[in-house]
Amino acid sequence: MVIGKCRLCNNSIKPFIDFGKMPIANAFYFKKDYNKQYYFDMKVASCSRCYCFQLVNIPDPKLMFHENYAYFASTSKFMQIHWRKLSDKIKKKFKDNKHNTIIEIGSNDGIFLKNFSNIKKWTAIGVEPSKNVAKFSKFQGVKNVIVDFFNYELTNKIISKFKSKADVVISTNTMHHIENTNSVFKGVKNILNMKGIFITEDPSLFEMIKKNTYDQIYAEHMYIWSAISLDIISKKHGLFLYDLENNTVHGGCTRYYFCHRGHFKRTKRCNNFITKEKKLGLDKAVTYKKFREKIINHSNKIYKIVYDLSNKGKKICGYTAPAKSTTLINFSRLNANLIDKVFDNTKAKIGKNYPGKNKIPVKSSEDFRKEKCDYVILFAWNHKKEILKKERSFTKKKSIKWIIPMPKIKIFK
Ligand code: TYD
Repeated sequence: MVIGKCRLCNNSIKPFIDFGKMPIANAFYFKKDYNKQYYFDMKVASCSRCYCFQLVNIPDPKLMFHENYAYFASTSKFMQIHWRKLSDKIKKKFKDNKHNTIIEIGSNDGIFLKNFSNIKKWTAIGVEPSKNVAKFSKFQGVKNVIVDFFNYELTNKIISKFKSKADVVISTNTMHHIENTNSVFKGVKNILNMKGIFITEDPSLFEMIKKNTYDQIYAEHMYIWSAISLDIISKKHGLFLYDLENNTVHGGCTRYYFCHRGHFKRTKRCNNFITKEKKLGLDKAVTYKKFREKIINHSNKIYKIVYDLSNKGKKICGYTAPAKSTTLINFSRLNANLIDKVFDNTKAKIGKNYPGKNKIPVKSSEDFRKEKCDYVILFAWNHKKEILKKERSFTKKKSIKWIIPMPKIKIFK
């Protein structure tokens, strides 16, 4: 297998799995553009020096985050509440300051920053490279949005434009999307006030390995972070991981808190979690060897289930077209012969096809109830609660069965 270089510490890395040619996960395309799709070699490695879990090759970020970006975070009510709760927590923590500045790295459609708009005490600045989602955040009341990639150079521009540094820098599900993590940490170190905090929340490597939720690995998710590796990287840039919290969002995320080195002491729960990560073997090559076997087994299993049902004449549809299912569908050889169509509520995906060679069309979720199918695969299994609450009485009435692909495959009515 090809050996690459760790994007964080330049160490030599060797992939533990090769997913083959994969498209960009959010690159839903019109039928006529089938042949114009972009593919890259999706190989995954864990660095033996800084333990950074990463894709060995990635497409040019401009091909992934642009004016037609298909991911609008506000499509989930659950996520809106999730981020509102975090913003309440931050407001409470900084309530004694006369004025605060918060900068969000990858502010998407404003789902988080809108909670700070129209509050005199707060200046909210979003940085978002995808023009279309950035534009939408203005409609949500976020006045200051810089359409760009966050990096060290940009922090200097922000400081001179706003004549201020930040009390809070936050990234909600974006650190794993940014190629140059070193530049992000250097930028945060540059722009964060002495008493400021840096918060990041991303899918957790611990949860992914434990639950085998490998659909988290795709072009835009070029890293899956662990506390072990973020601790090493942040220290290199004079920042310090002092606390963390785990939650069940996206199948398991970790929220990390950083400060300037020496400012806060590390919490017990943070130390405990790092110990837990080491116990699970996130810093050992053998863990990834086993992970590879589990991925291949799961992928073969889901293919067999869908293939057998289809062979029996059952009609199978999908519900939701999240980016994460691009890996599951393409790696598991699911295609339009097996899955009739997928229903989703994102305008930028409806009427297009699933990225890759599968040719599965995406239709509006408004049409789901008009469709007669026998089985429906819930690709956004992380939104199971919200979706089943909405659709289960209908599917029960029509005797449609659900297939939950992850973390464990489950089939029920
Ligand atoms: P999500 O799991 O949030 O993320 P990712 O794309 O990063 O894997 O994607 C959720 C997808 O599910 C998104 O395309 C919107 C869609 N969706 C629905 O169609 N209906 C719903 O009720 C919900 C909650 C999501």
